[in-house]
Amino acid sequence: MVTRINPSILAADFANLEREFGRISTADLAHVDVMDNHFVPNLTLGLPVVERLLQVSPIPLDIHLMIDDPDRWAPAYAEAGAYSVTFHAEAATDAVALARRLRAIGARAGIALKPGTPVEPYLDLLDEFDQVLVMTVEPGFGGQSFMASTMPKLSLLADAVRQRGLDVWLQVDGGITEDTIAQAAAAGANTFVAGSSVFNGDPAGQIARLRSAAEL
Ligand code: DX5
Ligand code: ZN
Repeated sequence: MVTRINPSILAADFANLEREFGRISTADLAHVDVMDNHFVPNLTLGLPVVERLLQVSPIPLDIHLMIDDPDRWAPAYAEAGAYSVTFHAEAATDAVALARRLRAIGARAGIALKPGTPVEPYLDLLDEFDQVLVMTVEPGFGGQSFMASTMPKLSLLADAVRQRGLDVWLQVDGGITEDTIAQAAAAGANTFVAGSSVFNGDPAGQIARLRSAAEL
């Protein structure tokens, strides 16, 4: 099994982002949380900052858009050179059309589901996406506790992906630590976003520990 560890820079030192990227160079992708203070009650950063991060990051960027109207705003992140662009199902007007646009630009297209959003409507559409992000906390803030109640959605996704022989990455985001990562991996996740558990300590060591805990 391929395991991907994507540190979330939401937990990094925002005054020293270039230096912080240097501390996570052994990770697979850097997860960048874009929040607009409308879709979620928090505000982080937007396209101008992402454009600079793309220039200094040693690893590709995994953009998580927690914004209203991604149909309008998401393509610019793909055009800027993001490796993957994930938007929320709850915010998109036409998720399939948007995913097709992102892919046409050359990015991997991801769809994210809040903890209360059912996965069933998307199971038949899985070939339209390169990754599905199952939120394991309510989006908006780092440092929250992992919600095990979201694991059945992951199992449904993993079964559907396996049955149809698709290559859709299954991502979890929120409360991922050395204690919770194995549970998410067992349910079928293969791509793990971790903010506070990576940056509140020694990032390289934490990335390695998370990787082995996921592969147990
Ligand atoms: C929350 C963000 C997450 C956040 C995770 O809305 O999408 O990426 O950074 O933080 P931790 O790992 O601390 O739960
Ligand atoms: Zn995120």
